[in-house]
Amino acid sequence: MEMSQIALRCDTRYVARLMPSQKVQTNPQSINLHSHATYLITGGLGHLGLNTARWMVDKGAQHIVLVGRSDASDTARQAITQLEDNGAQVLVVKADVSSRADVVRIFEKIKAYYPPVRGIFHAAGVAEFHPLQDMTPQLIKSVLDPKVAGTWNLHEITLGMKLDFFVCISSIASVWGSEGLGHYAAASHFLDIFAHYRHSLKLPALTVNVGALADGGMHYRHQKHTVMRERVTQIGLKHYSPQALLKMLEYSLEMGVAQQVIIDIDWTTFKELYEAREHRTLLKQIKVQLPKPFKGQLGQLGEVLHQLKDASKGDRYDILLAYVQNKVARVLKLEDSQLPTPEQNLMFMGMDSLTAMELKNNFQNELGIDIPTVKFLEGTTIAALANELAQEDKKREIEFLVTRK
Ligand SMILES: NC(=O)c1ccc[n+]([C@@H]2O[C@H](COP(=O)([O-])OP(=O)(O)OC[C@H]3O[C@@H](n4cnc5c(N)ncnc54)[C@H](OP(=O)(O)O)[C@@H]3O)[C@@H](O)[C@H]2O)c1
Repeated sequence: MEMSQIALRCDTRYVARLMPSQKVQTNPQSINLHSHATYLITGGLGHLGLNTARWMVDKGAQHIVLVGRSDASDTARQAITQLEDNGAQVLVVKADVSSRADVVRIFEKIKAYYPPVRGIFHAAGVAEFHPLQDMTPQLIKSVLDPKVAGTWNLHEITLGMKLDFFVCISSIASVWGSEGLGHYAAASHFLDIFAHYRHSLKLPALTVNVGALADGGMHYRHQKHTVMRERVTQIGLKHYSPQALLKMLEYSLEMGVAQQVIIDIDWTTFKELYEAREHRTLLKQIKVQLPKPFKGQLGQLGEVLHQLKDASKGDRYDILLAYVQNKVARVLKLEDSQLPTPEQNLMFMGMDSLTAMELKNNFQNELGIDIPTVKFLEGTTIAALANELAQEDKKREIEFLVTRK
């Protein structure tokens, strides 16, 4: 994974803005952790938590505290044994970070058995997929609790301690939202604001907006939701390993920034999507591969081209109209009985940047016609779109292919 692909700095204001990082060094001093200090990982028995514990021990840490509400799974137990085989002492504390009493208890235990805490890695989190209409106050609370109450408890209780770092594991959902995860995006955004707040107090803090982690963890569990899976692919997000995340996190800690977005993304897809409505000055700096010019053969293209080939001039518009109606219905996931009428306006039907991109890709792949994404978001109707395709059909590749074949 190339550095430029995944590192974006957010500026120092509370509103996250995308800007290519100017400060990523190519050869940073490796971080060393103290062997006579304790490092606390909340969510420590989860996917990222266990990988972080390994990373910390590799960096010299010898006292690790892992916090979670449940008992350690078999995977977690095996990982802990490995850490111990590598010379580390590992304390597992069953606690809920959103309970102040539990967090007090964690630090009492550490004080009794371990050296002072020098670093916190706050990775406790819950993210369940819930469309907005299914949200309840309880669901929202369950997702906010670890990231809002938990963070604040850790902050207040460690105020007098000399910490080297306080890392909050936030999500890319906080930067650009995520369907079905409104509560999670809000919880993550709290972490981002919190890190800036701590910086204003001259206290160490780093919030990391994580993309999609590979090999396990909550994102993997979300993959069972088709919408989530599709959305991640559609915006160009790619999975990356926790090790890659931790490597980048090391750079971020060295730079001393308050917030860092760490994602692996296909910029061509993302830029097109993000700029579907308007050009973004900051994204100008991102170089993307332009789509290859259309060179398709009739046989490789969609069924609709075969229909057009055999149709009389008079029938061609009707074929394109029916094609657009069906494509719009499919992209917007309408019921079979809900075929849209030609006068229907795409915007009022719920077309957004993602679905606009999907429609555009359909036209490109099946007709060889490139309609700018912005067209779909301007309030165009199905009939107007079919008309536009018909104009293109007349003047360019389709006409050419059809007459040649
Ligand atoms: N995986 C990804 O792709 C991804 C992407 C973006 C951000 N993140 C963030 O990365 C962090 C780690 O995620 P992961 O993928 O490793 O998920 P994970 O395997 O589910 O680990 C999260 C851990 O947090 C613990 N936890 C939840 N609520 C808690 C609470 N109130 N008190 C103490 N522990 C609590 C959970 O254990 P119990 O339920 O037993 O308490 C769980 O072990 C999360 O904060 C997540 O928001 C992950």
